[in-house]
Amino acid sequence: MSGPILAIETSCDDSCAAVLAGDGSVLSNVISSQGIHDRYGGVVPEIAARHHLELLTPAIQSALSDAGLGLGQIERIAVTQGPGLIGALLVGVGQAKAIAAARGLPLVAVDHLQGHIAANFISPEPFEPPFICLIASGGHTLLARVEDHSSFITLGETLDDAAGEAFDKGARMLGLPFPGGPALEALAATGDADAFDFPTARNVKGCDFSFAGVKTALLYAIRDLGEKDAERRRADLAASYQQAIVEALVERLSRALEADGGDRVAIGGGVAANGSLRARVEALGVTSHIPARELCTDNAAMIASAARFLPDCSQQAALTLDAYPSGAQR
Ligand code: KG4
Ligand code: ZN
Repeated sequence: MSGPILAIETSCDDSCAAVLAGDGSVLSNVISSQGIHDRYGGVVPEIAARHHLELLTPAIQSALSDAGLGLGQIERIAVTQGPGLIGALLVGVGQAKAIAAARGLPLVAVDHLQGHIAANFISPEPFEPPFICLIASGGHTLLARVEDHSSFITLGETLDDAAGEAFDKGARMLGLPFPGGPALEALAATGDADAFDFPTARNVKGCDFSFAGVKTALLYAIRDLGEKDAERRRADLAASYQQAIVEALVERLSRALEADGGDRVAIGGGVAANGSLRARVEALGVTSHIPARELCTDNAAMIASAARFLPDCSQQAALTLDAYPSGAQR
């Protein structure tokens, strides 16, 4: 077992740093949210990158002090290499390279989606492969077969929007703030989920997803109700919309289990923080693992967790490491 890992995650708008002990337990997990993007109704890439420049160093300092460690006690540096916003990623990658070079520490490059899966490997209750993992975030929605700790096989993915994007856009239509997922979930809690019948794209075959239809259905429902009634029935609209997205996710997860013959599932990504999804997955009747909410939304502890099972970069690669904006390039 190796020593503590310091990890950095800056793929979107959260400046994250964490320290994981060699046994996979979390010593610290700092998430510095930029907040600033609410006023634009979404993340502005250039602004996100600029804020990482300000927030990342203090986040790293807090992660070290929360863990009660100095840089001298860190044995490896891990960083999200992609996919994500390129400017935002480059701030994290640059910082990680600098620390690794200055301290003579090994550097580990981590894929963000592998990180979301690895949130399930964190102690004290690590979930061991093999299992099927549903990853649903703001940028990705996919089903993965996880056979070992360091890779995954994609079984299906979204053909259009990601589930988190559907939450964010639906929330915006309902006049809720960004990020929309938590706000829509809160509003849905007071509504009737059966009030409106929104589509789950059941006709999309296999383990692929589509969220364009449910988004359009919400838009039309709001338009058909008219301003006054749409306002009066906001909670019902939110609850029905959330139910359709969650149903679509769980339906594909069930299909994947059936096709694969497995009986172990895990979830990850920001949408996995949704209470309704968590309850539906728990009720599937198979062995399930659901990470704590703060390990589902973007964080650096999951990046450190993935790094535990990945090789160090070569010395040359540690100096020349570049970020990638989309697609797995592992
Ligand atoms: O994984 P994540 O933090 O960042 C990306 O990698 O994209 O996911 C962010 C997404 C956002 O779309 C946000 O609205 C959604 O996750 N989200 C939720 C909840 N919390 C965050 N969606 C539904 N319910 C939630 N409680
Ligand atoms: Zn993410």
